[in-house]
Amino acid sequence: MKNLTTILAVFLVMMLASCQQKQTSSNGDMDKFISELMSKMTLEEKIGQLNLPGAGDITTGQASNSDIGQKIREGKVGGLFNIKSVAKIRAVQKVAVEESRLKIPLIFGMDVIHGYQTAFPIPLALSCSWDMNLIERTARIAAQEASADGICWTFSPMVDLARDPRWGRIAEGGGEDPYLGGQIAKAMVKGYQGDDLTKNNTIMSCVKHYALYGASEAGRDYNTTDMSRLRMYNEYFPPYKAAVDAGVGSVMASFNEVDGIPATCNKFLMTDVLRNQWGFKGFVVTDYTGIMELTEHGMGDTATVSALALKAGIDMDMVSEFYLLKLKKLLEEGKVTQQEIDNSCRLILEAKYKLGLFEDPFRYCDDNRAATEIYTAENRAEARKIATQTFVLLKNQGSILPIKKTQSIALIGPLGDNKENMPGTWSVAADFTKAISLLEGMKSVMGEGAKINVARGANIVSDPELDARISVFGKSTGRDGRSDAALIEEALKVAKQSDVIVAALGESAEMNGECSSRSDISLPQNQQELLKALLKTGKPVVLVLFTGRPLTIKWENENVPAILNVWFAGSEAGFAIADVLFGDANPCGKLTTTFPQNVGQIPLYYGHKNTGRPLNDHKWFSKFLTNYLDVSNDPVYPFGFGLSYTTFSYCDITLNKTAINAAEKLEVKVTVTNTGNYDGAEVVQLYTRDMVGSITRPVKELKAFQKVFIKKGESAEVVFTLGIEDLKFYNSDLNFVAEPGDFKVFVGGNSRDVKEAGFVLN
Ligand code: BGC
Repeated sequence: MKNLTTILAVFLVMMLASCQQKQTSSNGDMDKFISELMSKMTLEEKIGQLNLPGAGDITTGQASNSDIGQKIREGKVGGLFNIKSVAKIRAVQKVAVEESRLKIPLIFGMDVIHGYQTAFPIPLALSCSWDMNLIERTARIAAQEASADGICWTFSPMVDLARDPRWGRIAEGGGEDPYLGGQIAKAMVKGYQGDDLTKNNTIMSCVKHYALYGASEAGRDYNTTDMSRLRMYNEYFPPYKAAVDAGVGSVMASFNEVDGIPATCNKFLMTDVLRNQWGFKGFVVTDYTGIMELTEHGMGDTATVSALALKAGIDMDMVSEFYLLKLKKLLEEGKVTQQEIDNSCRLILEAKYKLGLFEDPFRYCDDNRAATEIYTAENRAEARKIATQTFVLLKNQGSILPIKKTQSIALIGPLGDNKENMPGTWSVAADFTKAISLLEGMKSVMGEGAKINVARGANIVSDPELDARISVFGKSTGRDGRSDAALIEEALKVAKQSDVIVAALGESAEMNGECSSRSDISLPQNQQELLKALLKTGKPVVLVLFTGRPLTIKWENENVPAILNVWFAGSEAGFAIADVLFGDANPCGKLTTTFPQNVGQIPLYYGHKNTGRPLNDHKWFSKFLTNYLDVSNDPVYPFGFGLSYTTFSYCDITLNKTAINAAEKLEVKVTVTNTGNYDGAEVVQLYTRDMVGSITRPVKELKAFQKVFIKKGESAEVVFTLGIEDLKFYNSDLNFVAEPGDFKVFVGGNSRDVKEAGFVLN
């Protein structure tokens, strides 16, 4: 036995040594290769590597005979983005590796945000699954499909923490919580990059938008952000840092300013924090025209801003072409250094090396893969299943849901018989004409004999000018020229012929996403009128809510018996929604953003500070305590909230100890019982509160969660382990510390309804 142990130990040591050797030697190989290559490069060629133009709608024929083709030939382009298909990418790559002097391959980027041709639910929806394996899987499939289409780099994940639902881009991220955001960031980077970037089905990930983009003032896109360093480190930075810790290959700078300096030339962000504190080794790219926009920010002329960006630590210039224009002269004038240009050039060449492009520039250009690996039946089936996990059942009074397949249904609303809006914002590769509408999904799930009566009932918005702004770029809302009253009248006729009304209402895909901020985040007025009219019929109404952000639906919550929030669920949306509506799948999504009562409460989030005058157990309204005259502090739905067709009960928390020291672990145990009539999954959430600190601490912080599947009538024991690492935060010297003292721990099915216990950290 002893011998065997010794042999095993020797074997392990040898294995470790050989892995380490391989690692160093491959890094050594890369360094040597790039040093040799760079020794042959002219200054212009080095600067060329820093240039990332958009491909526009370049055709294969134009790969060579166009401005871009000419620039590639001259070594003035490092990569291209917004180009897809093996044929186009091969044609462009051929110019780079056959006609340019040093034959350096290009890197090809794209916004593969929530799936590729097989579109998954929007990222905010995916976050509501609280299932990291599932989220990783979506990124894996997206990478598989995108790489089969020639792409090797994605501008994802977007991990901007967002607590202002007016901001349209809240749809693209993982919600309001730093810890959950970090978990999602890790899962996505892993999904895209896999364990080996040189494989032809993995792609390089680019975490964005660094930093704090989600904190734009007043929720207006591209607006100023300003916050304390404490808040940056404790709340807004963790998801970006998690992506870096997971080995993300690149980082995108955000459009906004931080601390008075736009991110695109912010040395504190790009060098001090990203490189020196977090140890990031990849390259940094700007967002679209980021360097050009520095002049609008008031940072100086073309030359000045180019120097500022490079010196801050920005490696690649997306679209502006300011580096291409200015860096040579700036070097001659001594305003930037050769070292700075070389550093950035090296990092970009390293990325290409890591992707295996020097070994085979056509690694991602396999026609056979394009034909067999994109939008496959298997991927679509997974997308359908995954989508069912992201819906959040907000209300189900009298168990109206699930609906019986034999009932006759009035499907009413602008999103009932609509394909185009199903995939949601930023689904750049999805074919909208193939997306599954709710009507198609219902027909298929109900089977032969399906009784469905359809009416549009309302346009997405009544005002044609607003409608035009919404659809200015991207999917149309499919406007109907009839008046609001005529649309409602038709809907009522249809409703009267049916047993149940399914009202498919909400936002269109382009009412959220980039540059789609709203100052009023209610259901558009005309749709509210329709809903009121439908409720008056006395028939049971199920609101199927399409949205990319939390909406202010206080009235709807008070008056509509059942509400299923389906976000934008991807190419298989209609099937997945029908699966849940008819009970083939049990909803289990939980909100990752708070739903406020009105816009005036924003920002409203569960992890707020206590203040010196908390409301505690006092009733709203209480004079001289922190509250409003006209609205309580409560959300309509809190963070972590979501119902199921079944019900769950929680027993009290048991702890293995009442005090721990730095070396010990606390075990937090609860038993969760499925007390209803369906099998179902529950996301069990653990929060802590640090009762006394050297800085004020949030009233609750998510520290762990587990998604457990429990059969009806059965129970599951859920055990969490907490250690000192989980209790750390950045103090006012920005040191990451845990401070001894009293803590509370909470466990529950959302951030509001929790069981509570206390412990001490010695
Ligand atoms: C967006 C980025 C995106 C880039 C490239 C920008 O407008 O802010 O999120 O990756 O365009 O398409």
